[in-house]
Amino acid sequence: MFSGKVVLITGASSGIGAETALDFAKLEANLVLTARNKENLEKISAECEHVSPNKLKPLVVVADVTKESDIKNIIDKTINQFNKLDVLVNNAGILAAGSIENTFLDQYDSVMNTNVRGPYLLTMLATPYLVKTKGSIVNVSSVAGLRSFPNVLAYCISKAALDQYTRCVALELAPKGIRVNAVNPGVILTGIHLKGSMSQQEYEIYLEKCKSTHALGRPGETKEVSSVITFLASDSASNITGVTIPVDGGRHAMCPR
Ligand code: NAI
Repeated sequence: MFSGKVVLITGASSGIGAETALDFAKLEANLVLTARNKENLEKISAECEHVSPNKLKPLVVVADVTKESDIKNIIDKTINQFNKLDVLVNNAGILAAGSIENTFLDQYDSVMNTNVRGPYLLTMLATPYLVKTKGSIVNVSSVAGLRSFPNVLAYCISKAALDQYTRCVALELAPKGIRVNAVNPGVILTGIHLKGSMSQQEYEIYLEKCKSTHALGRPGETKEVSSVITFLASDSASNITGVTIPVDGGRHAMCPR
């Protein structure tokens, strides 16, 4: 399905990004995998090569999406190696807990720089190449962009911004044949909640609660998100642009009663 296409995925070293890399590899894409952790990236890269029908070896670029020079390097290395870009998946993101009463600008800055400023600059630098291929962009947002939750303030703001960015850029690039969409996952079983926002014990209680906070009665799995990302990036979604698709077991549709 992606034979001959070049697909760039940020945050590809774990969770949804790693699963998405494997899916694209199975679909014969040439991959550019980027994240901060070289060791984890190389592990995922080797797995992608293994599942790729033609044993295509991904290009691995270690980069921090909060650093402008790193983002420029991702695009330079991609073009240097493949001479084109067809799909950009803006997946890298961080979650942080806190409210208006107990967060400070350092959290706001790190969350916004990673979740919004990074995709903004990467998209800007990727666009001239996506114009040439009439490519496609998929942003990994969150149900926290569509709905409001207390005590994850900066995160909710960042994902709402990413959703609006998705729609605006979709309109800007539609005349050039580029589609821009987002997925909005509910709670997905990756390690993200344990990276600074919850203890192991809090996470276990939180997952138990997911049985009632998600209409389908459970948190989601990475495969359930990656399959929607590959769909949105593919020609099967050729008439879809500017959408933010909940992949959240119905959580976006729920109201307390
Ligand atoms: P994860 O923590 O496994 O993956 C996040 C990836 O982003 C990692 O590879 C990490 O290294 C990378 N990353 C973080 N900061 C970075 C930076 N400054 N530069 C480069 N890479 C950076 O978590 P997960 O769950 O796979 O998250 C992926 C995306 O899905 C994120 O955007 C997250 O907000 C979103 N999401 C996750 C949900 C969940 O419950 N797991 C729910 C809704 C959205």
